[in-house]
Amino acid sequence: MDSASRMNRMDLPPGPRYAPLQSFLYMLNPYGYMARMRARFGDTFSMPSMNGMLVLVNTPDAAREILSGGTKDFDIGFGVDLLSHLLGSNSLLLLAGDAHRRERKVLSPVFHGNRMKAYAPAMHQAAMDRGAQWLPGETIVMQNEMQSISLDVIIRAVLGVTEPERLSVFREAIRHAVSEVSPWPLFISPLRHEFFGVGPWARFMRHKRAFDLLLAEEITSARSRPEPGEDILSRLVDCTDEEGQSLSDSAIRDHLVTLLIAGHETTATALAWAFYEVTQHPEIERWLLDEIATLGSEPDPVQLSDLPALQAVSRETLRLHPIVPEFFRTVKNGYRLQNWNIPPGVVLAGSILSIQQDRELYPHPERFDPQRFLQQDFAPHEFAAFGGGHRYCLGAAFALSEMSVVLGTLLPRYALQSTKKRPLKTVRRHITLGPEGGAPLRVIAQRFGPARH
Ligand code: HEM
Repeated sequence: MDSASRMNRMDLPPGPRYAPLQSFLYMLNPYGYMARMRARFGDTFSMPSMNGMLVLVNTPDAAREILSGGTKDFDIGFGVDLLSHLLGSNSLLLLAGDAHRRERKVLSPVFHGNRMKAYAPAMHQAAMDRGAQWLPGETIVMQNEMQSISLDVIIRAVLGVTEPERLSVFREAIRHAVSEVSPWPLFISPLRHEFFGVGPWARFMRHKRAFDLLLAEEITSARSRPEPGEDILSRLVDCTDEEGQSLSDSAIRDHLVTLLIAGHETTATALAWAFYEVTQHPEIERWLLDEIATLGSEPDPVQLSDLPALQAVSRETLRLHPIVPEFFRTVKNGYRLQNWNIPPGVVLAGSILSIQQDRELYPHPERFDPQRFLQQDFAPHEFAAFGGGHRYCLGAAFALSEMSVVLGTLLPRYALQSTKKRPLKTVRRHITLGPEGGAPLRVIAQRFGPARH
């Protein structure tokens, strides 16, 4: 062993060894695994993974240190590049350094707080349309219901598509493109061949090409519109980069796919948890219904999106049930973290699960208590559900606004109840976490709107 590699070893915090076993145990039970490792090795520990060495960081203070680092310290995290085949090389999720900073500057104005108001009516309408199909007595799987709503919302917001037929074409195209991302060819490169049109890679490529064709039609049509619409595609067609150049069709395509994919499943899972938690806490449900009723019998969706009680319930849901369990940063040239000199190439993983269970920040962290978010503002290293720093989730305001509008639209109209006697477990959904069984709830009764519950 040369002295440089011995030095690098010495600079890593202690931790368990045997990569496949650790990855498996962590995937199986992320909360239990973290607790065991922290008890054994301390709050910061290293862990081998199939994709290289990880350093897991579990406290808000250490998370602040990571989030204060920028593009000069860090490359993109890991794992995300597996999605490059679908998202494209201009995707914000895959860019690092100057390219990331440039593209983020292009996309950020599209997500400014005030622009979110334009999307609230579409969020309300999508919720009303789906809710109209719920019948008293039936059991609905909230993950599926919310996914249908959030898919409609994101297609309308990103592409401006509203005609029912075109919406359904896009719904199918996105579902196929996502469900056909089979993990095998992504991890095993020789499987990335179309083999005369047979096999998972050929299927994935067929769906991707069909999806790309649809997007190309929308981009062409947006370029020829006399007046830009409120949708994100209209903004992208209109905007220029730092050199004053318009974005190419392929850059726009990659941004659209990234937003369509990143922007719906996460929000749907968060909403499924939110409805579940409200059914478990009748006093919180009553409080929400009273707050919503103060907005009148037909609340304006924009007011719903801003209602503090709904925003607090949305944030507390994401605190107790983070959808994305970690944020990742790859060390570029070495990074000083607490007392460690972390070598280049190591991936720092901020455990959102652990940070949001911190007892000092969140007394009785196991309790669902939205009031915490009315009494205090939390910084991104404390409430880390959307990550932070230079990679803070671009759609955070959009997601919180959608959660509030959908909850505020459906809660006053439908009484729901969990079908399970015991608390729902957290399970893995691809790389994210979600409620066991998709959170099945029974529709107990239809209510008559905000003012008359
Ligand atoms: C509850 C819903 C959501 C959750 C929990 C969530 C969570 C996250 C997290 C943890 C990150 C990584 C941040 C980091 O590394 O510091 C991220 C990044 C990102 N999210 Fe979200 N997200 C949600 C909704 C959305 C929506 C609705 C959109 C778009 C409409 C979106 C677009 C993005 C994009 C583009 C990035 C990459 C940002 C960058 O690398 O600069 N997300 N999100």
